[in-house]
Amino acid sequence: MKFVAAATVAALAVAVSAQKTLEYEIKKGIPGLRMGRPLPPLVGKRFGKRDTLTSMIVNNITGGGYYIDVEVGTPGQPMTMILDTGSSDAWILDVEADLCHSKTLQEKHGDYCSPTYDSSKSSTYKLAVEDGFRIQYLDSSEATGDYITDDFKIANMTIKDLQMGLADKVAMGTGVLGIGFPENVAATDKYPNIIDQLAEQGVINSRAYSLYLNDRRSATGNILFGGIDTNKFMGELSVLPIQRYGLKYSHFVVSMSDLTLTYNGQEESALQAVVNSTGVRGASAILDSGTTLSYLPDKASTILVEALNAYTDYAKTGLTFIDCGLLSSDMKLTFVFNHTTSIVVPVQEMVLDMLDGLDEYFPPDLPFDDVCLFGIQSTNSFGDDMGATSLLGDTFLRSAYVVYDLDHKQIGMAQANWNSTETQILELSSDSDSLPAATGVQDGQATTTATDTVKPSRTAGGGSSTTDAGKETVTVTSTPVMNAARAISTAGVDVLGVMVLAGVFSIFGGGVLFML
Ligand SMILES: *[C@@H]1O[C@H](CO)[C@@H](O)[C@H](O)[C@H]1NC(C)=O
Ligand SMILES: *[C@@H]1O[C@H](CO)[C@@H](O)[C@H](O)[C@H]1NC(C)=O
Ligand SMILES: *[C@@H]1O[C@H](CO)[C@@H](O)[C@H](O)[C@H]1NC(C)=O
Ligand SMILES: *[C@@H]1O[C@H](CO)[C@@H](O)[C@H](O)[C@H]1NC(C)=O
Ligand SMILES: *[C@@H]1O[C@H](CO)[C@@H](O)[C@H](O)[C@H]1NC(C)=O
Repeated sequence: MKFVAAATVAALAVAVSAQKTLEYEIKKGIPGLRMGRPLPPLVGKRFGKRDTLTSMIVNNITGGGYYIDVEVGTPGQPMTMILDTGSSDAWILDVEADLCHSKTLQEKHGDYCSPTYDSSKSSTYKLAVEDGFRIQYLDSSEATGDYITDDFKIANMTIKDLQMGLADKVAMGTGVLGIGFPENVAATDKYPNIIDQLAEQGVINSRAYSLYLNDRRSATGNILFGGIDTNKFMGELSVLPIQRYGLKYSHFVVSMSDLTLTYNGQEESALQAVVNSTGVRGASAILDSGTTLSYLPDKASTILVEALNAYTDYAKTGLTFIDCGLLSSDMKLTFVFNHTTSIVVPVQEMVLDMLDGLDEYFPPDLPFDDVCLFGIQSTNSFGDDMGATSLLGDTFLRSAYVVYDLDHKQIGMAQANWNSTETQILELSSDSDSLPAATGVQDGQATTTATDTVKPSRTAGGGSSTTDAGKETVTVTSTPVMNAARAISTAGVDVLGVMVLAGVFSIFGGGVLFML
């Protein structure tokens, strides 16, 4: 019987196994102190590309991203950090950070501060590079400060002397735990990031981790450093090579060969035209837990928008809306990475319910009354051309169990087994020359078989869903500003790197809509 209530799931917060793995809870929502913050009034307002309103709306609807609680320093100071596979530096907020002390800046950036760090209260604090930390966001906002080292506690494990940014000038009120390739850190002198340190300090054997975001109705998921939990996915784990992006391995990029929409027994390809237009190179996708929505090349998203009778508001928000009626649809999207690897995402997973009271922000001529946000948007909304590359954020990642293996430069992927409460850990080793073969729980209760039910039920043991009638309301408050894209290094960035990164990523997705 695998169906267990959410409260029980949350109780499993921390589990450190005897093996060299480290499992830790991740929380869904918007961290920090930003409860109950009202959206700004829409008087005479036109949504500009840099408008924070769009990201506020996205966050209001999606409930934000995924973050974890950690402690920094001795004694430990509690800290909240956004978990981000799309960047590589850890950075925290300095107690003196400008945003945290200025109402004007909070208004401007639409964000408040989550807990900050005071170096004078930590006996293990060391300054590493004075003024050396500078992460620039593509809308030209940035976070700057020193690089420091201090002890960093995650789950029960303390990493000694982790290098991280200590930001005193910031545009967002929550730090980021970047868990990407260390080659991609924003420093002039590269340094071992948290993934390197976990391996170097013997916590894990292999620079790899698995991310389980879980059902969007669930408040928590988890991250497993150094292992694979075979109870969290269904069928065989596929292994895909990570591709270089530009010259180096900087992001978790895999090739993607198609995306199909299945309805009434018919199948429509949304990505073929894009794939065909790329010649031999094919299309690709970046897996980014730090982005809330997913973004497809315009041609592909347009096909979906038309097929699903969605609507893109070019005039104001730049967002694509969809009829909430599709929350009870049995249509499904299949993201095909490879002839052996595809992930099914029910269309209803891409229908994000709007909260009441947002009506004034939406265009009057929508072809439906019950307005939801579409979980897929066009990469054109970045104001930049990402070519045949898609950015797959949380709306996709929830349906997948993904193993990020930095040592072997491989991605392991399988259909997620939602609300799994059991654990079966397979430890990873860097000695092998590949991710191991891994088999999850039996397929069959998956969405793939749920074509004639209203809601997908993935719980084994017949866990019938208690939620009725499809529509659920997201109850997370407020509005972090994510008016910015993924961090890029200002020090020593090659032009190609910048080009490659242009258009990529806001922490919570919405931000990308108004950069540049
Ligand atoms: C981790 O901490 C929790 C709570 O303090 C404790 O119950 C548990 O035994 C610890 N686990 C390990 C492996 O130290
Ligand atoms: C998973 O749990 C959440 C509650 O935390 C529930 O709303 C949801 O329906 C469950 N999902 C499945 C597939 O059973
Ligand atoms: C396709 O999948 C197979 C098996 O999972 C893998 O060996 C192969 O490298 C993959 N090819 C690409 C281009 O991803
Ligand atoms: C893409 O190419 C394939 C193989 O050449 C072809 O069958 C298909 O019709 C093309 N699709 C589109 C949308 O151009
Ligand atoms: C979302 O926005 C609405 C309208 O301003 C507001 O009433 C509501 O409290 C917000 N909800 C959350 C969860 O932020």
